[in-house]
Amino acid sequence: MKRILLLAGLLLAACAPKSDMDKYIDALMGRMTLEQKLGQLNLHSASGFVAGAKLNDEDANVQAVRDGKLGGIFGSSDVEFLRQMQQIALESGAGIPLITGMDVIHGFQTVFPIPLALSTSWNPDLVERAARIAATEASAHGINWVFSPMVDICRDARWGRIAEGGGEDPFLGGELAKAYVRGYQGTDGVYDDHDVMVCVKHYALYGAAEAGRDYNSVFLSRQEALNGYMRPYQQAAYAGADSYMSSFNEFEGIPASMNNYLMNELLRDTWGFKGFIVSDYTAVSEQIAHGIGDLQEVSARSLKAGLDMDMNADGFVGTLAQSLKEGRVSQADIDRACRRILEAKYKLGLFEDPFKYLDPTRAAKEAYTPGHLASAREAARECMVLLKNDGVLPLKKEARVAVVGPLAKNASAMAGCWSTGSHNSECVTLYDGIAEAARSASYAEGSWLFKDKDLEETILYGMAKSFMPNFRGGNIHTVPQERLVAEAVAKARQADVVIACVGETDAFSGEASSRSDISIPDAQAELLKALKATGKPVVMVLVTGRPLTLEWENENMDAILNVWCPGSEGGHAAADILFGDANPSAKLTTSFPRNVGQLPLYYNHKNTGRPHGENEPFTKFQSCYLDVLNGPLYPFGYGLSYTAYEYGPVTLSASKMPANGSVTASVTVTNTGSRDGDEIVQLYVHDLFATSTRPVKELKGFKKVHIAAGQSAQVEFTITADELSYYDHDLRWVCEPGDFDIFIGPDCQRGEPVRLTVTE
Ligand code: NOJ
Repeated sequence: MKRILLLAGLLLAACAPKSDMDKYIDALMGRMTLEQKLGQLNLHSASGFVAGAKLNDEDANVQAVRDGKLGGIFGSSDVEFLRQMQQIALESGAGIPLITGMDVIHGFQTVFPIPLALSTSWNPDLVERAARIAATEASAHGINWVFSPMVDICRDARWGRIAEGGGEDPFLGGELAKAYVRGYQGTDGVYDDHDVMVCVKHYALYGAAEAGRDYNSVFLSRQEALNGYMRPYQQAAYAGADSYMSSFNEFEGIPASMNNYLMNELLRDTWGFKGFIVSDYTAVSEQIAHGIGDLQEVSARSLKAGLDMDMNADGFVGTLAQSLKEGRVSQADIDRACRRILEAKYKLGLFEDPFKYLDPTRAAKEAYTPGHLASAREAARECMVLLKNDGVLPLKKEARVAVVGPLAKNASAMAGCWSTGSHNSECVTLYDGIAEAARSASYAEGSWLFKDKDLEETILYGMAKSFMPNFRGGNIHTVPQERLVAEAVAKARQADVVIACVGETDAFSGEASSRSDISIPDAQAELLKALKATGKPVVMVLVTGRPLTLEWENENMDAILNVWCPGSEGGHAAADILFGDANPSAKLTTSFPRNVGQLPLYYNHKNTGRPHGENEPFTKFQSCYLDVLNGPLYPFGYGLSYTAYEYGPVTLSASKMPANGSVTASVTVTNTGSRDGDEIVQLYVHDLFATSTRPVKELKGFKKVHIAAGQSAQVEFTITADELSYYDHDLRWVCEPGDFDIFIGPDCQRGEPVRLTVTE
């Protein structure tokens, strides 16, 4: 039956009138040689851009374009250079324009907070606006294809790339993935010269790298992958994402770049994705080291499994002709991949105007504008999570503040990882922002980053250390640590309040930046202890790309404001919050562990047969640790404000719901404090009994509501079968009849359950 339907479908498709795009590409491909087709499947980084072992040389790239052996280039925003390359491409071979890519991850020249920070706004509109501005600035720099959004779910803060994604929850991740796609690609289905094509990455499951070590293997069942990790990739496809990037990791013993289940069966056949898939950087040839075969073998298998474009490995361009001769791939396999890439170029409008994105006058007018900077400041304010406040915040502008710590004047730490278009020196530092707002601000560097010079050098200059044989070491640890601490203590003593700017610089997170110890680095911890000993109130401003373990800091600091890596306007935004011009509203999207041994740690875990409460002490023969609580220090969904909210009881419009029906869950939230604020109200469900085990709680809705001081807001969520469904053991999306607990609360740990029964 399935076969007959398939044949009928194919027949219908064959009879359907051809679109203009199909006709154009049919004609074009009819004129192309095999070599020219294979050239389209090849992507190189521009010289000077490196994210792996391969660094391309400019002359070789120019020659490759001349020889028709490149379909695109990425990593350059030099419009003049890209124009020249485009001209060469048009004059050679089949005259097909290049697609021009770039890692635009959280803004371009105007840098927005890192994606993990953006997710803590729980504001898809804000994410969409940030992506739109990034699209404008990137397209003004010759870029028409961005390697974003990065939507990998991650439950392990050791992984440095947790900074690049939207946290640990698949539902929130899915909402944000759609927002990124809308922001970058636009919403009218047509690319104008300010819209860029997304490349959703890293497909798939890269964030589940074992032990948080980058590029590591992934071990997940299909069921767990679908329930816990896949939703953001799926939602991006539904939102119309036009390209994906395959990931470095393996899944079910098959590397992702040759994984037929992931690419053909799930992404294309099940979710209906029609665009093209590019590999990650040399991911095709890395499958040799995975233990699959030689370059010819891994290239052939990747193509067959649905990969269309090979980034930097030259496996497709170098071996597929031979594989065709040997019958290891077919002409149809090659044509399919080539067609998908030509379709992307057609959709971008490059055949109509190959220079559409290469206007050398745009960047000066359209990037880093006052409007964009204002949006970056607004976004940064909305992404700073107040983790603790004993009442010292907000500060009075009249107070004498001592701004100390190695991150106080660090502009690149504001920019964060993957800020490829930013001029780091243009980022407003914490000190600059605070000094602008405060009547009196003193400064001291306060400490090294780490006591271990070698470790600090490795983090800051890892690339140079690994690739430059003559690297002589960075200019660090030039002033003794004791002196730096003493200077900071002296400044602290003369101040009313200390603002300690500590944590991680941009180099601590992002690619190839896994850490096994995620505490505040020792030299900075020593500074904090010395500041605490002064008896002055200490506000810790945490700069970080990942959750850190902060038990001592939580005990001993008077307030902790997590600003993440907040972008171009970070210093201004931090000052807005510290001095109370803005009221913090961000909430965590990743659990902050108490210690690293708890990892992986995530709120939507399963119950065991011997369950144990998050905050209960050790009990023999239960699933818990001897030496630490099960729960995090700061849970998913948590974040403080300068006001307070009270949640009333949750009511359901009905306590029973047929599987095809819906109910409304509502709650009244009252702002009981004296400041207006924005509260992120969260809806969770727990399926009590199911044919497979289900998590203790799952986020199924959220709303950010503005509530004036003393006022209340009625917040409602509609619950349908979709909110109660999951992938069962046979991988069917099902809502099984039975009882569900519904929670509405300010974070994943608070909120009383209300029972909902789904009937047959
Ligand atoms: C490797 C990274 O994994 C990926 O995120 C990035 O887009 C490519 N390099 C290209 O720079």
